[in-house]
Amino acid sequence: MNKTLVAYFSRTGNTRTVAEAIFDALDGEKEIKPIDQVSSFDAYDFIIIGFPVQMHSLPYPVEQFIKTIPARKKIAFFCTHGSLPGHRLSREAIEYAVVLATQTKVLGTFCSRGKLSVQALDALNKSPEHQEWTEMSASAGTHPDAGDLDEARVFARQMRVLAQHFGR
Ligand SMILES: Cc1cc2nc3c(=O)[nH]c(=O)nc-3n(C[C@H](O)[C@H](O)[C@H](O)COP(=O)(O)O)c2cc1C
Repeated sequence: MNKTLVAYFSRTGNTRTVAEAIFDALDGEKEIKPIDQVSSFDAYDFIIIGFPVQMHSLPYPVEQFIKTIPARKKIAFFCTHGSLPGHRLSREAIEYAVVLATQTKVLGTFCSRGKLSVQALDALNKSPEHQEWTEMSASAGTHPDAGDLDEARVFARQMRVLAQHFGR
């Protein structure tokens, strides 16, 4: 078994765009699916999971999905988020994903910015609890861009190489 699964959750398409770039960059046997279409992990030796940061955390269906991954499976995470690159708010979400997957072997993580609609930004910006990240998100309007997708492809190739050598 030497097959990679790219599994993603995406509400407005940003995470799906990054997932498709990751998928295209992978050599070998591979599949790409939204998480709600994944019924078994048996066919895959390596799983790359992508999600948007929502409310400083993971979307609930992604949390549930991660908990179903069998122990010792090799996995990697990527996320898209509106806030600035490397900021605590997006880091905390991906760190939480890693903690949830503690029984698996997490080989790496990657994050890219992802735009919000002007309407969503306006609406969310009115709530004090969202102000910190919505202010940063105003500058995410062109993301994921070509540079983000190049970085995502590099991440995919590096993770695939790590997965091949891990545990040998
Ligand atoms: C309801 C909602 C909550 C969000 N919460 C956060 C957040 O807490 N931090 C952040 O950086 N971005 C946040 N975002 C921005 C999304 O993470 C970003 O736009 C992402 O790329 C969306 O991915 P998708 O198009 O795959 O759904 C939020 C967006 C929405 C609509």
